[in-house]
Parts: sequence; C-alpha cells; structure tokens
Amino acid sequence: EPPITLRSLSEAIGIKANQLMRRMMDLTGQLVTINTTLDEDAAIELALEFGVELAIVREETAEDQFDRLLEDARAEETAPEHLQPRPPIVTILGHVDHGKTSLLDYIRKANVVASETGGITQHIGAYQVEQDGRRVTFVDTPGHEAFTAMRARGANVTDIAVVVVAADDGVMPQTKEAIAHAKAAGVQIVVALNKIDLPGAEGNVNRILGELSAEGLIPEEYGGDVPVVRTSAVSGQGVDDLLATLATIAEVYEYKANPDRPATGTCLEAEISEGRGVIATVLVQDGTLRVGDAIVCGEGFGRVRALFDDQGRSIQEAGPSTPVEISGLDAVPTAGEKFAVLEDISQAREVAETRRTRSRGASLGETKAITLENLYSKM
Ligand code: GTP
Ligand code: MG
Repeated sequence: EPPITLRSLSEAIGIKANQLMRRMMDLTGQLVTINTTLDEDAAIELALEFGVELAIVREETAEDQFDRLLEDARAEETAPEHLQPRPPIVTILGHVDHGKTSLLDYIRKANVVASETGGITQHIGAYQVEQDGRRVTFVDTPGHEAFTAMRARGANVTDIAVVVVAADDGVMPQTKEAIAHAKAAGVQIVVALNKIDLPGAEGNVNRILGELSAEGLIPEEYGGDVPVVRTSAVSGQGVDDLLATLATIAEVYEYKANPDRPATGTCLEAEISEGRGVIATVLVQDGTLRVGDAIVCGEGFGRVRALFDDQGRSIQEAGPSTPVEISGLDAVPTAGEKFAVLEDISQAREVAETRRTRSRGASLGETKAITLENLYSKM
C-alpha cells in the first residue's frame, strides 16, 4: 500500500500541512517534512488531534487481486452450486526409466517416447484422455535426479499421484523422493508396479511391497490403503486396472471447480519459440481460460493470443483440469509459477511490472515511517 505522507494526510483531512507538521514536531520532538511518512495508527491519531476521524480504506491493488483470485480458487469460496465436476489431475512420478512415459503412452496410444531425446523425459508433458466417457488429465514428469523441482511441482498440481516402480528394479532414490513429494502434497497415491512382463519380475513383488511399506506406503494387500497395480506398458497388462483404480478414487473424491470464474492455474513449462514468442504449457485448475484474456504468470503478462490443446489443436477456451499451451505472454515464466486472469490488461501489466521491479532489487530507499510509539514517545 502507498505510504501515508503528511502531504497526503493533509489533503485527505483538509488540515493545512503546516499545522500537521507543527503538531507532529511538538509530539515527536523530531524534525518532519511534508514528505515524512506515518504508519496507519499514527495517521489516525494525528487526525484525531484535529478532531477528524480518519478511516483508511484500502483499495485493491492488482497484486492483491491476483492473490485473491488464487485464494478464492483454493478456498472454493464459490457457492457450492457453482461447482461442477472436473477431471482428476493425475501425476506420473517415479525413478528414471521405470516406464512413466511408456505407461502414459500406452494409455494415450500415441508415441511420445519415440519422439523424446534418448527416451528421457526432458520436460513435463500434460495430456487429457477420455475413458468410458470420463476424462482424466495426466501430467508426466522426469525421473532423472536433476529434476527434483519438477517432481515437486508435479506433486503440487495433482489430485492423485501414480508412483511408477519397475518390478525388475524396485524402490530407488527417485522413487523415494517422489513418494515424499506426493505425501507432502497430501494427495492420493497409487503405485504402478510396472514392467511386470519381464522375466523374474513376479519373483520381486514381495520384496518391493516390503520396500514400499518401509517408505510408509502400505499396500492394500498388506492391509494398508495404497492400491498397488501390476502393469506392463509393453503388453498393456493391468493398464485398465490402473485406470479403473483412478476412476474409483475420482468417484470418491468428486473433484470440482467453478468454470464460471477468471481462470487460475499453474505453469508447467515455458520457453521462447522462434517466431511464436513465449509459449507456456499451463494447467487450468479453476475457471475458464479464453483467447483474449488478460493474464499474469510470474513476471510475464499479456493477452492470451492463442490456445492449443494437448494435440496441438487451436481452441478458444479451456476449462478446469485442462492442460493447454498459450502464447501471448511477454516474458517467460518459471515452471511452477501460478497464473491468474485479471480484469484488464493494465492490471496484468501492473502485477508483472511490480514483480520485475522487485526482482531487480530496486529499492526506493529506506523510508522510516512515524509509528504510534514515536508519535507519543514525548508524551
Ligand atoms: P524418464 O522419463 O527418463 O524418467 O523415464 P520413464 O520412467 O518415462 O521411462 P520410459 O517410459 O522412457 O521407459 C524406459 C524404458 O523402459 C524404455 O526402453 C521402455 O521401452 C521400457 N519399458 C517401459 N515400460 C515397460 C514395461 O512395462 N515393460 C518392459 N519390458 N519395458 C518397459
Ligand atoms: Mg519419461
């Protein structure tokens, strides 16, 4: 909020600045100028000295508005009658090469693994699939140890975490890390015991169930509450089982959002693309994002110029739980950063510019406000 100066107080209460300054000096014994700032309590007290009751009304800044939109979305302050079912967001986590992308690929029946450099997931891919008329949003994450932050991000945007463990290998360092992220995020966890088609895999199952228990994931077959589904991304064994397990969880939790509000969500990845400007993959978590919306994400802002779905098709709008690629931001946001649609572009600009100034470390210099204590220290 802007500081209260003697000048602005003078203008607000219609008492001459000279009078205010004189009284202030009497009260504090300090030299003051017309630009001396006061905190709210001090301003209220000083106004009272002149018989004026000062009410401080705070206008919502653009940054406040951004925060409020996210908070509303989180708190689902929206009246329940506005909430509508949305697809669950399922993140695939696990150790490198345990078959996360292959499993998702089997589910999507497209070939994403082949197009990746060396088969290692470099970024978060997000897709929506439809199974028996029900949609599920999947977020793929890299298992490589260099990508801790991305796994954390994945766990934070998700409703359900599928922890993939290769049956020929078992619980590995990044499996443990994935479990920790999912637990910290407080989301439902399902284990996919993958590569079950490999010879000897079945023989490892008991050991791995023990390893999972040691990590605090007690499998249902051991009396716990963690479903462990045997899968193969090669033969497709267990994939339907996995989808059914996810559907059951989604039925129990009835994930909901309000499509009729300004969109909020999270950036999963972003880059500058030759000729297209900043391209960001975002996950809409609440509200509906539309072409033309004034959006802020991290230090970037702009009007949404175009929206593309997970198959690269141009779309006009994207509702809750939809992963979507957007163009139109003027700066590349960091993955994991929240986005929100503001009322107009000037507010979006204001938020982005405030953040840029802040991150540049620009400081207007230490201004020491007069507080109630030093206002009365002489009395
Ligand atoms: P990162 O993204 O690098 O962490 O790996 P990932 O977990 O996505 O593993 P990916 O799907 O790329 O698979 C790694 C290798 O395991 C590939 O060669 C796959 O063909 C193979 N693979 C994945 N799932 C299975 C499976 O169920 N059975 C068998 N036999 N091989 C599998
Ligand atoms: Mg992968």
